[in-house]
Amino acid sequence: MAARPSLSRVSRVINSLASTSFSSSSSSSFSSSSSAPASLSPSTFLRRHSSVSADELSHFSGLANSWWDPMGPSRVLHLMNPLRHEFIATCLATGDTSNSTGNTTSPPANLHYLDIGCGGGIFAESLARTIPLTPSVPGTPTRAASMTAIDPSPHLIRIARAHARTDPTVDAHLRSGHFKYLNTTLEELSERLLKEEEAKEAEQPTGGKFDMVTLFEVIEHIDPNTSTPATFLTNALRLLKPGGWLVGSTIARTFPSFLVNQVIAEAPWPVGVVPRGTHEWSKFVNPDELEGWAKDGVRTVRSQLHNPSGSQNKALEWLCCGVMYFPGLGWKMVPGSESWGNYFWAVRV
Ligand SMILES: C[S@@+](CC[C@H](N)C(=O)[O-])C[C@H]1O[C@@H](n2cnc3c(N)ncnc32)[C@H](O)[C@@H]1O
Repeated sequence: MAARPSLSRVSRVINSLASTSFSSSSSSSFSSSSSAPASLSPSTFLRRHSSVSADELSHFSGLANSWWDPMGPSRVLHLMNPLRHEFIATCLATGDTSNSTGNTTSPPANLHYLDIGCGGGIFAESLARTIPLTPSVPGTPTRAASMTAIDPSPHLIRIARAHARTDPTVDAHLRSGHFKYLNTTLEELSERLLKEEEAKEAEQPTGGKFDMVTLFEVIEHIDPNTSTPATFLTNALRLLKPGGWLVGSTIARTFPSFLVNQVIAEAPWPVGVVPRGTHEWSKFVNPDELEGWAKDGVRTVRSQLHNPSGSQNKALEWLCCGVMYFPGLGWKMVPGSESWGNYFWAVRV
């Protein structure tokens, strides 16, 4: 396994983010030209650039009490959840997620997951349910050993924890620490891990933290005044072990997606399926933009890793598949539809 980057290398990653990530251009809202002063320390940079928008936070917090109502405002997320597991299985099937050299043939049995922007826990809880109660039991298709789920909304984290406690298996994982909900942001978590790295610098490098990082329906909600998708993605990629996957879903910024997600989905009841104000079309992200930012992020992160096997030269792995909602049938993968609206994507460090 490749060594974890030393603090100085991690610092260089963040400093390079500070100097480069604000320069990515697009026709969406994310075209800030501001740049961070080169002298900013990594911790200060991360703290000052929280990607959380106050409006988004208040919108999603307001949905907390109805999050687990399968017919409520989060209905679309509930319906989409089985496809997330299907897509993750596709990623895992493409190879070993913890191997930095590409040589290992046996896939890992114990994967550590991080769910960023977990909301009330629809995906995180379903993943936690797949963690074996005893290590001797064979792994499940997710190969999950642990799940850490984070969200900036304290209301959502409270609802998520309360719901998790109602299932004895999931509750057992909460008690054992194999399943954790944290009310924090990606930036705060990165900063905390950076400090841990700092504390350990004299010790043997321990390797990355997570094998799988998930980002479902989040990137289109970050604050364009304080962050960019490129910055956000690279921060998420940094939390992965070499060979790990960043997996997400989002919505392309197209005319059909404007009609479906903004006009129809947010129409008054009984037509609409999500509350008004859930989406801001200009913040949607096209697959080619996302692929470019994600691949740049992977290059940045790989270039900072101690990598004697030269795996930074490995081909960049990118998966993308459109998904469509069919009334009465639910969400289905529709390869080729990714440039119309909703899609799943994954990139490997
Ligand atoms: C549409 S919900 C998706 C929830 C969950 N991922 C799911 O799909 O079931 C968006 C979530 O992203 C969270 N969020 C918004 N901005 C965020 C940010 N900058 N960083 C992390 N999470 C964020 C919100 O609090 C909310 O829980």
